[in-house]
Amino acid sequence: MTEQTATLGVDGSNFTYPVLDGTVGPEVVDIRKLYGQTGMFTYDPGFTSTASCESAITYIDGEKGILLHRGYPIEQLAEKSTFMEVSYLLLHGELPTKSELDEFVYTISRHTMVHEQLATFYRGFRRDAHPMAILCGVVGALSSFYHDSTDITDPAQRMIASHRLIAKMPTLVAMAFKYSLGQPFMFPQNSLSYTGNFLRMTFGVPAEPYEVNPIIENAMRRIFILHADHEQNASTSTVRLAGSSGANPFACIAAGIACLWGPAHGGANEAALNMLREIGDVKRIPEYIARAKDKNDPFRLMGFGHRVYKNFDPRAKVMKATADEVLKELNISDPVLDVAKELEHIALNDEYFIEKKLYPNVDFYSGVILNAIGFPTDMFTALFALARTVGWVAQWNEMIADPEQKIGRPRQLYVGATQRDYIPVGDR
Ligand code: SDX
Repeated sequence: MTEQTATLGVDGSNFTYPVLDGTVGPEVVDIRKLYGQTGMFTYDPGFTSTASCESAITYIDGEKGILLHRGYPIEQLAEKSTFMEVSYLLLHGELPTKSELDEFVYTISRHTMVHEQLATFYRGFRRDAHPMAILCGVVGALSSFYHDSTDITDPAQRMIASHRLIAKMPTLVAMAFKYSLGQPFMFPQNSLSYTGNFLRMTFGVPAEPYEVNPIIENAMRRIFILHADHEQNASTSTVRLAGSSGANPFACIAAGIACLWGPAHGGANEAALNMLREIGDVKRIPEYIARAKDKNDPFRLMGFGHRVYKNFDPRAKVMKATADEVLKELNISDPVLDVAKELEHIALNDEYFIEKKLYPNVDFYSGVILNAIGFPTDMFTALFALARTVGWVAQWNEMIADPEQKIGRPRQLYVGATQRDYIPVGDR
């Protein structure tokens, strides 16, 4: 197949670059030699047209609303798979056999407890500390407990660290919730599913047995799968950039957690439910739609819009159906869900949202379900981080194993002062 190229003309000279294609999706212009040949950088704040890496983990088609994990559609995984099976798929590239899955689940179950000294870190926080603030701290602190799995050049150590992170996040997130309540931490119970174990550590108490509600367990299974990975989003790119310096995996995941916290990213699920509650009544929706369209108002519809999806977020469709199912099965009628549905209906028929291709994203309906299950809003992003840890870890492993991997070091368009001499303060 003849090699495709792209040519850039600069001041009468032409510079030609190879065009690389993947298995599916947009081709890329390989501009790695551009600065050396032209003395110029490309300029792409927010990386709207930039591929930062090669990856085989997740594929998104924003126009068609397609999300594949190692080729498998998210709709099928959310319906038929388990979070442990999807975790294996993301990490290893193939769906596991029964024995591979059993071994993986057993391995993860060996790492669900945390060092007792780590529990003392929680006591340094105020009881009303945001769970994401706690996670930023304790996940980074994990690196001080596991010196036997921080040598990133050793594939065996990389996998042990990966297993530890996947296994311990439910424990750490549940501990943050317990700490906010002043309740004792619950130890993991490995006879339960990954999701059931998390629910028991979160909502169980030592004084009495905890029965996992299968409806809630199934809803959380889907929610965790829907959040597991999503290509080169901001927090995943943060994990990759931190990893490119050789930082240990625990520090890299802590960096990802910090980035996810932002309301433009994973923090949107908390912000979206708070917004829906503030709207409170379908009669007030037009007021908020007008604010979202007002250039002079910083207000945005939280849970709406996406850098990649321009027709619909396939995860939002599954999340909306799950919200309906869970509230009906739990016999809960939440006016916030009615506001969410009416807001979506009005927005999707409004010229502004149609023209700007703004649709509900994964964060728009998730809060309705999490609220119905009993999580406070400040736990929502921590749950996102719990689920996304396997995606971050899979992407981190893929990057470290890439022989062409080098430290990420973007350049800039400098618009500051040119060189000038120092002026003593008395002469200023
Ligand atoms: C996640 O990247 C991922 O894959 C992320 C994620 C994942 O799984 O990792 O999918 C998870 O982060 C989902 C997104 C959650 N964030 C929100 O719901 C916050 C609200 N949405 C936005 O702030 C915004 O839509 C972003 C951040 C999601 C996307 O921003 P972009 O792609 O940079 O788009 P933009 O800000 O340039 O907006 C384009 C236009 C702008 O108007 P103009 O300047 O062109 O006139 O659309 C407008 C924006 O003002 N706009 C909105 C809007 N989102 C964009 N207007 C009102 N309400 C909104 N929500």
